[in-house]
Amino acid sequence: MDARITLTVNGDKRTVVTDPQRPLLDVLREQLHVTGPKYGCGEGRCGACTVLMDGRRTLACVVPVGSADKKTITTIEGLADGDRLHPVQQAFLDEGAIQCGYCTSGMILSAVALLNENPRPTDEQIIEGMNGNLCRCNGYTKIMNAVRRAAANIAEVKKP
Ligand code: FES
Ligand code: FES
Repeated sequence: MDARITLTVNGDKRTVVTDPQRPLLDVLREQLHVTGPKYGCGEGRCGACTVLMDGRRTLACVVPVGSADKKTITTIEGLADGDRLHPVQQAFLDEGAIQCGYCTSGMILSAVALLNENPRPTDEQIIEGMNGNLCRCNGYTKIMNAVRRAAANIAEVKKP
């Protein structure tokens, strides 16, 4: 049976009436037209659909939309501050850490979640924090460089 679900997506309150078991990713992409999160495997194995739910890294393809009721969802579309890219987005651009781009929004959201929790990660912590996000283009070296650069840039901004 359909349910009425209210969620805040990138700062906007949205209400949908749908099957609460439907994957959050389907609702975002097909009903709310938020297409930054991508469909890769559909079974929690690739990270292409990564979003933040109440700030936590979340695989939108395996989370039923009913569990997002009254939650805050952030996708790649909600990261920039007006014309100013989020430092992680900027670092991915500066490092050229994007090839076909299919994994990129999920990679960036995972990196944002990682750096929010641990602003100065070691390389091992970056690898662990990004574990689960796959890049078919095998761009891992540049992606690592981008996460390192984002951490350094955020630390620079926070310097007293
Ligand atoms: S599409 Fe969600 S993890 Fe692959
Ligand atoms: S840039 Fe193509 S899958 Fe990662």
